[in-house]
Amino acid sequence: MIRLRMAVVGVGHLGKEHARILAGLPDVELVGVADVNADQAHAVARRNSTRAFADYWPLLNLVDAATIAVPTSHHLAVASEFLKRGIPLLIEKPLALDCRQGETLVNLARDHQALLQVGHIERFNPAFEELHKRPLQPKFVSCERVGPFSGRSTDIGVVLDLMIHDIDLLLRLVRSSVSGVKALGVCLFGRHEDVANARLHFANGCVAELTASRASPTASRRMHVWAPEGYARIDFQQRRLSLVQPSEQLRRHGLDPGRLDPAARARIKDDLFGRYLETIDIDGHTQDQLSCELKHFVECVRTGTSPKVTGADAVDALVVAEAILESIRSHAWEGHAAGPVGPNQLPAPLGSLVPPMQQEGAA
Ligand SMILES: NC(=O)c1ccc[n+]([C@@H]2O[C@H](COP(=O)([O-])OP(=O)(O)OC[C@H]3O[C@@H](n4cnc5c(N)ncnc54)[C@H](O)[C@@H]3O)[C@@H](O)[C@H]2O)c1
Repeated sequence: MIRLRMAVVGVGHLGKEHARILAGLPDVELVGVADVNADQAHAVARRNSTRAFADYWPLLNLVDAATIAVPTSHHLAVASEFLKRGIPLLIEKPLALDCRQGETLVNLARDHQALLQVGHIERFNPAFEELHKRPLQPKFVSCERVGPFSGRSTDIGVVLDLMIHDIDLLLRLVRSSVSGVKALGVCLFGRHEDVANARLHFANGCVAELTASRASPTASRRMHVWAPEGYARIDFQQRRLSLVQPSEQLRRHGLDPGRLDPAARARIKDDLFGRYLETIDIDGHTQDQLSCELKHFVECVRTGTSPKVTGADAVDALVVAEAILESIRSHAWEGHAAGPVGPNQLPAPLGSLVPPMQQEGAA
C-alpha cells in the first residue's frame, strides 16, 4: 500500500497529539512537523521519528495531505497556502476567526478541489453518534461546556473556543435555521469573553440554552435534549448516552395520580423508571475521538469521499457564533445603553462575597 505523506503544522497542545496518532497509522507516512517554536518542533519530531521544520513552506512540496493545529488567528494564512496547491486539509476548530475568513477557506478548497475537513471532534464522540442515529425532534436543548482556564486559545473567547462545539452539534441535531439569539458574557482573563450564556430560537420551534466557561474549577461537558420522543443526556467526557422514553403503558393509558388510591400513589416513585419511563444507558467504545477523526480524514483523502464535518458545516457554526458574539457585545447589564454594556464592563460590585485572600508577598 502506498502510504499517504502527511504533516502537522502547529504541534502545541493538540497538534502534538495529531502527530502521535498519525505517526502510528500504517497507511500514513508522517513526513514532518512544523512549528515556529523550533524546540517544540524538534521534541515532537524526535518522539515520532520524523523531521522538524521551523516553517511550513518546505512541507508544501512534500505532502499529500496535512493537518493544521496552529492558533485560530493563524488558520487563514497557513491553511490558504496548502489549499491553493490543492492539498487536502484537516483544520482544527474553529475553522477561522469569523465566517468571512471561513468562507475564504471554503472557497479556496472548492476552487482548488482540495478536500477540507474541520476538527469539530465531538461529532466523533460515540455518545453523540448513537444519539444522532435515533429518531428525535429536539424541542429544548441545554448544553454545558465548562472547565478551568488553560492559558491557551487566548486569541479567541470561550464562544469560539468551547461553545462552538455545541453550536455545531445543535445544528446537526435540530436541522433548522436559527431565528433568534440572546446572549451575555464576561471577560475575566483578557480581552475575550471567558464565560458566556446564549439562548437560541430555531425556526422549527426548538429552543436551546448554551453555557460555556473557562473559569470553572472542574470540567463538565454535557447536553440534555427534550423531545416528543423522550429525553436524552450526553456526558461527552464519559462518552455516555442516557435515554429515557415514556413506556407503552404511559403512552396508552397516561398516569392520573388523582385517580389512584393512596397505596398506588405511594408506589409511583418506585415504579417511575421501569413501568412508566423506560431508560437505557449506552457507554461508547473506548477509542478516542481524535483517532477516529484523523482516521476518517485519511480515509476521505484516500477514497475522495466528503468528510463528516465539511468546511460549509464549520462556516454554519461560525455564523451562529458571530450572532452570539454580537448579542454579547450589545448586552446592557442595567437594561439601558447608558449603563455598562458588553463583556468588558459590569455594574460596580456592591461588596465582597468572600473575605479577600491575603496575596503572597503583599505587605
Ligand atoms: N478540537 C478540539 O477540541 C480542540 C482542542 C484544543 C485546541 N483546538 C484548536 O487547535 C488549535 C491549536 O490549539 P492548541 O491548544 O494546540 O494551541 P497551542 O498554543 O498549544 O499550539 C499551537 C502551536 O502552533 C504553533 N504556531 C503558531 N503559529 C504558527 C505558524 N504560523 N506556523 C507553525 N506553527 C505555529 C505554536 O508555536 C504552538 O506550538 C486552535 O485552533 C484551537 O482552537 C481544538
